Amino acid sequence: MIMFQQPETAMWFTAAARLAALLGDPVAHSLSPRLHNHWFARHRIDGLYLALRVPAGDLAATLRLLPRLGFLGFNITLPHKEAAFALVDRHDPAAARIGAVNTVLVHADGSLLGCNTDGSGFLLHLRATCPAFRPDAAPAVLLGAGGAARAIAAALLDAGVEELRLVNRTAERAHALADWLSRHFAHRPTVVPWPDRAEALRGAGLLVNATSLGMQGKPPLDLPLDPLPLSAIVADIVYVPLATDLLVRARLRGHPVVDGLGMLIGQAVPGFRHWGGTEPAIDASTHAFLRRALEDRR
Ligand code: ATR
Repeated sequence: MIMFQQPETAMWFTAAARLAALLGDPVAHSLSPRLHNHWFARHRIDGLYLALRVPAGDLAATLRLLPRLGFLGFNITLPHKEAAFALVDRHDPAAARIGAVNTVLVHADGSLLGCNTDGSGFLLHLRATCPAFRPDAAPAVLLGAGGAARAIAAALLDAGVEELRLVNRTAERAHALADWLSRHFAHRPTVVPWPDRAEALRGAGLLVNATSLGMQGKPPLDLPLDPLPLSAIVADIVYVPLATDLLVRARLRGHPVVDGLGMLIGQAVPGFRHWGGTEPAIDASTHAFLRRALEDRR
């Protein structure tokens, strides 16, 4: 038996280890291997999770070969999420709607199920952090119209949000997202012009930043919070830094806040359930572990 000593946990695996991997390009900065190997160790599962840099031209061959070598599944990251969608055999409803796959589960017959867990991961963490969240109680404001915003918007409407206000710097992208959402859900989102973003906060019960503003190296999100009711939840998907300017300001005003680490953890859960064969722990120790992993990475 080989043992690798990590600061947090002893990691064990044998020749019979359960195998899973992240496929992307680049992958070197990903926290997924740390998280999944942490869970393997914590649950005393003989398993190993790797990060593999896969050039676009090799994705199809990798997705077919690795399952034959025993891999039970994959996470998919940039730039392969759409390509993987086209390469798997079946899709879960979220992936089918979004047209992108971030998790691939290998089934016993070798077939590949493509899932999208970004939106459900976001919601899982939101509900865990703010159990009082009622999707239909008040409008939700979503900033951004990229891939992350699309997954979150679909998850929010799925959860029962009735009034979704989309705000994006490039109005055409927000309108395109609203059109797409209205083809899949009963409630058509409203689009608020970027300069009016503070006004969009009036009466809202949830504000989500799904833009890259606030990320290290990017400008902070310029958004006065005064119009936002104090009971509203404020969530940010940015996790470098974890305490974004938006969350710091929201905390000071007394809002319940949801940081970006949760989405990272939440989106990983369905994959681990499959290749770990158990429900992974999500608790203060998981969060503390990932915070340390983030600090190590700097
Ligand atoms: P992802 O797929 O991770 O969501 P993305 O598609 O690059 O990434 O989207 C980034 C989001 O951040 C977009 O909503 C983008 O707005 P545009 O659609 O107008 O590009 C938003 N964003 C990035 N930089 C911004 C800035 N300086 N001001 C306002 N919004 C910004």
